[in-house]
Amino acid sequence: MSKEVVLSGIRPTGFLHLGNYFGAMRNYVRMQDEYNCYFFVANWHALTTHPDTRELQNSVHRVIAENVACGLDPDKVALYVQSDVPEIAELYLYLNTMAYKGELEKTTTFKDKVRQQPENVNAGLLTYPVLMAADILIHRALKVPVGKDQEQHLEMARNFAERFNHRYGDILPSPQAFNFGNELVKIMSLDGNGKMSKSENQMNTLFLADNDDLIRKKIMKAKTDSGPTEANSVKPDYIENIFTLLKLVSNESVLQKFEADFNGCSIRYGDLKKQLAEDMVNFIRPIREKAADIQNNKPLLSKIIHQGAEKARASASATLTEVRKAMRLNY
Ligand code: TYM
Repeated sequence: MSKEVVLSGIRPTGFLHLGNYFGAMRNYVRMQDEYNCYFFVANWHALTTHPDTRELQNSVHRVIAENVACGLDPDKVALYVQSDVPEIAELYLYLNTMAYKGELEKTTTFKDKVRQQPENVNAGLLTYPVLMAADILIHRALKVPVGKDQEQHLEMARNFAERFNHRYGDILPSPQAFNFGNELVKIMSLDGNGKMSKSENQMNTLFLADNDDLIRKKIMKAKTDSGPTEANSVKPDYIENIFTLLKLVSNESVLQKFEADFNGCSIRYGDLKKQLAEDMVNFIRPIREKAADIQNNKPLLSKIIHQGAEKARASASATLTEVRKAMRLNY
């Protein structure tokens, strides 16, 4: 039986952080044995917000290196760069005729970007969800491992696929956002303001490239308060986030100890943060070191990228042949 297709992408717009890891990459690694996986670096998407391409190659290489350092095996999955697969751009063109201005303007990420870069509200930004749908549908992927922030984009991809099928015949399956466990993940920033992000709020985001001292410094500065005054209180969201991180990188007994301290109102946040900082250093250090080695190995990077493009193009052109046939564009 053929394996179910999985696809996901990451924009090369800065250093990867714990949100990327726990929202997305951890799932990639877990899925690589059981599924037919396509993972890529979304460098076309990056152009909608980062038109200066001088740093782009370096960033693309870093995203590839960090994915491999986190455990992705380029021999098992197709790990590729978006611009190496021109078939995506053709599907994007067709899907653009099924996406309406009104719905694109209402997309949350578009509205955020208009606020952040009012001087560069380009058409690529408006049609960002259409390109993302093309990324997914070009491989007819069913599962898309992403963090919670991508939920709306997935819903739009399903709408575009349904419209295509309705107009031209049943070619494109409906993709679903995916996470092990039922909830999509959102890792908040360490000051409790919004999510960890590649380009904003850098001192409150833990990057996979941060050195040991910087990790400790950021965690010790994380927002806390004077602690609960009633037993079994609900945690404020910034405290919940620290516990989420503890759950992700510390062992079960450590987590249980601090949960019990919190519920019994005897928690000392200084001790909690010290423990979390050491566990986080031990978690990030091997990834950082391995990623740096891979990033310095240009022949290896080039081999991975070419091999990925070949696999991705084979699958993409098979879909495009079907799409053209359905649209009567096969002369
Ligand atoms: P990007 O590059 O912003 O993020 C890459 C992945 O990391 C997840 N993520 C988070 N998860 C939890 N908490 C956070 N704080 C956090 N920050 C980021 C994102 O949900 C994502 O899974 N539009 C996409 C890139 C993309 C794509 C695609 C993804 C382009 N085409 C097709 C899937 C399928 C993006 O900007 O991700």
